[in-house]
Amino acid sequence: MSQPNGGTFDIVILGAGSGGYAAALRAAELDLSVALIDKAELGGTCLHRGCIPTKALLHAAEIADQTRESEQFGVKADLVGIDMAGVNSYKDGVVARLYKGLQGLLKQDKITLVQGAGKLVSQDTVEVDGQRYTGRNIVLATGSYSRSLPGLEVDGERVLTSEHALRLDRVPSSVIVLGGGVIGVEFASVWRSFGADVTILEALPRLVAAEDEEISKQVERAFRKRKINFKVGKPFEKLEHTDGGVRATVEGGETVEAEVLLVAVGRGPTTKDLGYEEAGVTLDRGFVITNERLHTGVGNIYAVGDIVPGLQLAHRGFQQGIFVAEEIAGLKPAVIDEAGIPRVTYSDPEVASVGLTEAQAKEKYGEDQVSTYNYNLGGNGKSQILKTQGFVKLVRVADGPVVGVHMVGARMGELVGEAQLIYNWEAFPEDVAQLVHAHPTQTEALGEAHLALAGKPLHAHA
Ligand code: NAI
Repeated sequence: MSQPNGGTFDIVILGAGSGGYAAALRAAELDLSVALIDKAELGGTCLHRGCIPTKALLHAAEIADQTRESEQFGVKADLVGIDMAGVNSYKDGVVARLYKGLQGLLKQDKITLVQGAGKLVSQDTVEVDGQRYTGRNIVLATGSYSRSLPGLEVDGERVLTSEHALRLDRVPSSVIVLGGGVIGVEFASVWRSFGADVTILEALPRLVAAEDEEISKQVERAFRKRKINFKVGKPFEKLEHTDGGVRATVEGGETVEAEVLLVAVGRGPTTKDLGYEEAGVTLDRGFVITNERLHTGVGNIYAVGDIVPGLQLAHRGFQQGIFVAEEIAGLKPAVIDEAGIPRVTYSDPEVASVGLTEAQAKEKYGEDQVSTYNYNLGGNGKSQILKTQGFVKLVRVADGPVVGVHMVGARMGELVGEAQLIYNWEAFPEDVAQLVHAHPTQTEALGEAHLALAGKPLHAHA
């Protein structure tokens, strides 16, 4: 039986998160008609349950720490406490304002918003509540969900995902953070600043294991100083409920008890029961396989964002969404270099990087073809003023460009804008060394590192 017709569009996009809505906005600019389908709010995980609310928490955490430490700067203040209702209302206010702005952006003639759960029912049709939306092109952008481990049941009370953690109405007295990746480290940082006793359990030998090894070392040093406990190199084994909370056991039998446990062991692609495989799309462990131009190889179906293997970052989703809209419009956009996508972990200290780690560069170019330089923030005036510690590390190829920038310390996330230009424009240290950085700013640390690699260090101690 044929279904009622929702219409025919140049592009039907399933999922209105970072990848999906960016594709819709760019497509509309290119005069293409779009149906943008989502069962939940426009903006997806990043805006409502991810990047934005967590960064608001991290900012509140920074204010708590600064209040606690204000005397170091000659300012007398007492931290009376954390009012989670107040923190949440600030956080929700930020999300609400951005959400309103996004709704305004998407309200345009070329974009038809469809609220409801969509399913791919053929290579060119998505069905929502019995209505069929046909696309000359389809973009799959259904995002990701918080994964758990076998036997570890998330109940939202004692065992939380980041979605639950964002809605907590209290600061738990103690927390086990399972997973020392990006989410784990960010929440550990927030809760410690809010006064909780925090222990991170990480299976790999170091925290933020995707980053350059020296960055992990510095984060671990800083976390020790902040009295954030962590156990690395031992996978989680089991969880038991106790009177006051939970007890986690890691390989070898060591246990940790706390009021709650946050599961932060990665995010899985949302691709189940959506008709993808039936339409012929190839899935690998749930991820949608595409070519480098984000085409699935089936009909005119593309995929963007967290369902495509690689970095699960909102800004990657934006860029992929723009890419696919331009591809469909025939603009032949340049393929996105995954290594050129900047990465920031907004903990205290912040971690920011782009390009290859030292180990990856040595693997790619050969051990003797790679040199590195670490500029210690101790020599940077603004970092001294902020009383932060850390460094900027450059990885360069012999007689070639900078292929990796790795930074750790307060506010380093703001420097990644320049770092990604350096990487993506394939700058040589000598190119950057002649550019002027304002004094006193932390961007000078990037400048100084390039001066040193170009053989003319200024404020650098040997
Ligand atoms: P992740 O992949 O960054 O870290 C998960 C960690 O859990 C890994 O280090 C892994 O070794 C560990 N793990 C897995 N199984 C374990 C076990 N049995 N016992 C102990 N440890 C175990 O994933 P995460 O932190 O959950 O974040 C999910 C995604 O969201 C990431 O891809 C991340 O990029 C993204 N995200 C990005 C943010 C940012 O850009 N600032 C913030 C938050 C999330």
